[in-house]
Amino acid sequence: MDHFLYRNGALHAEDVPLSEIAAAVGTPFYVYSTATLLRHYALFDEALAGVDHLVCYAMKAASNQAILKTLAQAGAGMDVVSLGEYLRARAAGVPGEKIVFSGVGKTADEMRRALAGGIRQFNVESEPEMEALNAVARDLGTVAPVTIRVNPDVDARTHAKIATGKSENKFGIPIARARQVYAHAARLPGLEVVGIDVHIGSQLTELEPFAQAYAKLAGLTETLRADGHDIRRLDLGGGLGIPYARSNAAPPLPTDYGRLIRDTLGHLGCEIEIEPGRLIAGNAGLMMTRVIYLKQGEGRDFLILDAAMNDLIRPAMYDAHHDIVPVIEPEPGAEAAPYDIVGPVCETGDTFARQRPMPPLRQGDLIAFRGAGAYGAVMASEYNTRPLIPEVMVKGDQFAVIRRRPTFDEIINRDTIPEWL
Ligand code: LLP
Repeated sequence: MDHFLYRNGALHAEDVPLSEIAAAVGTPFYVYSTATLLRHYALFDEALAGVDHLVCYAMKAASNQAILKTLAQAGAGMDVVSLGEYLRARAAGVPGEKIVFSGVGKTADEMRRALAGGIRQFNVESEPEMEALNAVARDLGTVAPVTIRVNPDVDARTHAKIATGKSENKFGIPIARARQVYAHAARLPGLEVVGIDVHIGSQLTELEPFAQAYAKLAGLTETLRADGHDIRRLDLGGGLGIPYARSNAAPPLPTDYGRLIRDTLGHLGCEIEIEPGRLIAGNAGLMMTRVIYLKQGEGRDFLILDAAMNDLIRPAMYDAHHDIVPVIEPEPGAEAAPYDIVGPVCETGDTFARQRPMPPLRQGDLIAFRGAGAYGAVMASEYNTRPLIPEVMVKGDQFAVIRRRPTFDEIINRDTIPEWL
């Protein structure tokens, strides 16, 4: 559920007409709904009520500090994957003890800064990384809390580019080698092993792969405890999918996911961490754009927008579907016609949708991309020297620009010319 609804024939973000924001900030831009963010966070938090748990928002999905602060004030921790994300979370006021540090290639410098600054745990993914973290911790005269990410060899049945839990993927240590690796970790004085971590992929639309992974995790917890390790925390990763197309069956709800967690892992008495990103931010954000031209092609019509693949890469990168709707509500029974919906960037990959039925539209009309809150703004680039588009946050009848559009001078002046030129 989200808070982007038509009222009196016009699409609103909560109580604010989107046309009003577009008039104030210009297009394209991203807009987020506070109420939707908070609702999605609360769904996860409530799904684990009664279990000792922490919802660590995977901030890679949408990392504007206003979003982080909104969620942190509601009680969320953060899952970070780089020093940049760590520093951003801290800048947004998230305490170190609520931040988990994931990622397959943390550098010694990243570890040092996070360990010195305060961290809940590192989710380590290899033996060389364990050795590196041990050295950093000893150098700082401290001990680093760690979980070890295991790769359970489970098929997440999602897009190949975002599946992470099969043995051929780069993530985690093979579950078959877990006992050996935990024994190794226990011999390193700079590490304190607190638990196990798993994350099998993103945009999962069924619970079954989670069930398989968590069953393996339960077995592993018992084995490692029998080996003498104090396994007291399980980080279950993120990955629960969202409905991108209103026409498709909805994926399982956080409530169902919470029940699965209790059923498969509840008996172990561990503290549970989850790292949802997409389900919290995805449907809490729209990308807003305008029609620049309607163009007649050979046997097809094109809708040329002022947003492009550099602003929202998901369709080009994962063949992702986003519902695309006009801000002015179509008349009931308005006849739809198919369009190829494209941006101005100079490559054919800059296509958001092919032969998408759209209601009648005109040049200058405002259009909304739904489900654009996660992996939207954060994956944007300045390809074609197109400025990163602004982000706006709405709360009730208020809105605020939470990242402004840079000026062309700012972009151009970042280049420095070598003295020989
Ligand atoms: N934890 C870890 C260790 C992860 O790698 C990820 C996502 C998450 C949590 C959050 O997963 P979520 O709940 O958002 O599914 N750019 C792609 C998605 C990449 C996901 C990467 N890892 C997309 O636009 O679909």
